[in-house]
Parts: sequence; C-alpha cells; structure tokens
Amino acid sequence: MCKQLKRGVLYSTSFQSTEQIREPEPMTSNETPLTIAEAVQQAAAFLQDADIRESRREAGSIMAHTLRCDRTFLITHGDEDITPANFARFKGYVERRAAHEPPQYITGSQEFYGLDFEVTPDVLIPRPETELLVETALDLLKGIQSPLICDVGTGSGCIIIALLHELSAARATGTDISSAALQVAARNAVRHHVRERLALVVSDCFTALDMTKAKFNIIVSNPPYIAEASIAGLQREVRGFEPHVALTPGIDGLRIIRRLLNEAPGLLTAGGCLVFEIGFDQHEAVRGLIDPQVWMLLDICQDLQSIPRTVALKRRF
Ligand SMILES: C[S@@+](CC[C@H](N)C(=O)[O-])C[C@H]1O[C@@H](n2cnc3c(N)ncnc32)[C@H](O)[C@@H]1O
Repeated sequence: MCKQLKRGVLYSTSFQSTEQIREPEPMTSNETPLTIAEAVQQAAAFLQDADIRESRREAGSIMAHTLRCDRTFLITHGDEDITPANFARFKGYVERRAAHEPPQYITGSQEFYGLDFEVTPDVLIPRPETELLVETALDLLKGIQSPLICDVGTGSGCIIIALLHELSAARATGTDISSAALQVAARNAVRHHVRERLALVVSDCFTALDMTKAKFNIIVSNPPYIAEASIAGLQREVRGFEPHVALTPGIDGLRIIRRLLNEAPGLLTAGGCLVFEIGFDQHEAVRGLIDPQVWMLLDICQDLQSIPRTVALKRRF
C-alpha cells in the first residue's frame, strides 16, 4: 500500500527497489494537518521502507533539524500541528534521506573532537576514528612551544582546526587538491576562531609549498586510501554521495601514503613527526613502505574497534 504523509507526498517503496521510486502524487490541501508526532511517525515508516536503519531515530532527528529544536521539544510538543512551510521542508529532507543521502549533508553539520563542523558534499564527513589522529598529534607536540603544523588533505578542516583549537600558540598550513573543500575549511576555521593561524593552499600534496622555507614540527594527514576497485562495495551513503577524490587516490590505495613517506622528510624539522591514518587492512603493507633509514616507527595506534588506524613516525635526522 502506498505510504504518504497526509499533507504531501512520501511515495511507497514497498513494491519496488529504492532506485525505482514512484512519481509523487500531488499534494492535497483539504486534509487535516498532521501533528509533529504524526509526521515523525509516518516519516519513520517511509524511511524504514527505504531500508534506512534506525528509521524512527532518524525521522526524529530530521524533524528536530527542520524545527531547529532538540528532541525533548519533539516529545513535549508532539501533539502540535506542523505548519505547511515546516512540513514541506521536512518532507524534502526525508525524501533526500530515503535516497540514502548521509544525514550530515542534510543537516550540514558533523561534530568532531567536541566541535561542530560545517559539512557539504564537497568534503568528506569527519569520522570518529580520525579523532585518534588528533590525540596522537597532540601527544607528539607536547613540550613544543609554538608548533608549526601541516595537514595534507584538509577537507572540512576537522583535523587541523581541532589541533589549532587545542594549541593556542600553534600555526598551520592545510593543503587540499580540492579548492571547494578548502572553502568549507575556511568557513570552519572562522567558526572556531583559528582562521588567522591557518593558511589554506590548493595543492597536490606538497607541490604548491615552498620546500626550501616550509619546516613543520609535524605533518598530519587523513589521505584518501581506498583502492578504486573497493568503492563499489562501500555503503550507498558513502559511494553515492561523498567526494570520490576524498575516498580514493585511484587504483592503488597506497599512492598518497607513499608520497607522504617520500616527500614529508623534506618539509619536517629535524626529529619532526609524520602522523597519518590508514585503511583497516593496510598496516602490513604500510610497514613495508617505511624506510628505516629515514623514519623511526613510533606506533601504529588502534582505534576503538582495535583496527590499526594511525601511523606515527619520527624523522631520524
Ligand atoms: C579522506 S579525506 C580527509 C578529509 C579530512 N582531513 C578528514 O579527515 O575528514 C581526504 C582529503 O584529501 C584530499 N586530496 C585527495 N587527493 C589529494 C592530493 N593529491 N593532494 C592533496 N589533497 C588531496 C581530498 O580532496 C580530501 O579532502
């Protein structure tokens, strides 16, 4: 049976795949308005039909975003009618989520290291495991008065902005091959009051930096590390919506990591560190790429799921 919100249209997915969505039926104007709770309930059923897990929670979050309120408000005001304008916005968001767009692109934000970051489809959505990279870098920078930091593949700016937020005397350069991503990073840097201490440079890894001048205490990176062939196996939310350039460096998932290992020594101070994130199955291959004449392997830290995730190296000379 076709599921639809009374005022408006959420179309059925019961008899067809989510890729083949039926044309919406026209909105009707003479029906009883929905309450907030009823709209959430119907949206939850619609999302469930579209194979969205935790559909009830998601429908509630989308309503909270629509009404710019918290979830407690939804409970205490559930029996109030939703206005036509809010209903139209809610329906639009729910339909986007039913097409498996990540909720963070719908709400435009993601929390990372206790800070709220703007995210758009131009940037990777910051992941909780990347907070380990921030922790590791902070440990390595202990005792350095005014550290200079470089972040390769800045994206939303989550790593470098979290570091600058923690270290009030630090200065940093963030590079990214995507100028659209750096515009998001710039807005996030303003939001978190670190813009004056952050230079943002469109660059293919280090190419646009002056290798003779730039000497960093630490280089951090969460590079694209998924082999192109593995993209098809990722969740719809990831493969269909996150920027391809943020996910994969091409056929060889280790391409940027190899470049970091080869090029970073020329930009580090003596004894400077390189810290980068790797894929769940890459630690053995990465160990094999580390030249022991150049690098001292400090650690490969495991994330909360016990996956070797963050490689920490120190330049030997
Ligand atoms: C995995 S995302 C990481 C984004 C962000 N640092 C984070 O942790 O959420 C990788 C980023 O590297 C950028 N990138 C891809 N290839 C690059 C290259 N050759 N040089 C510089 N940045 C690159 C992408 O545009 C993307 O923003």
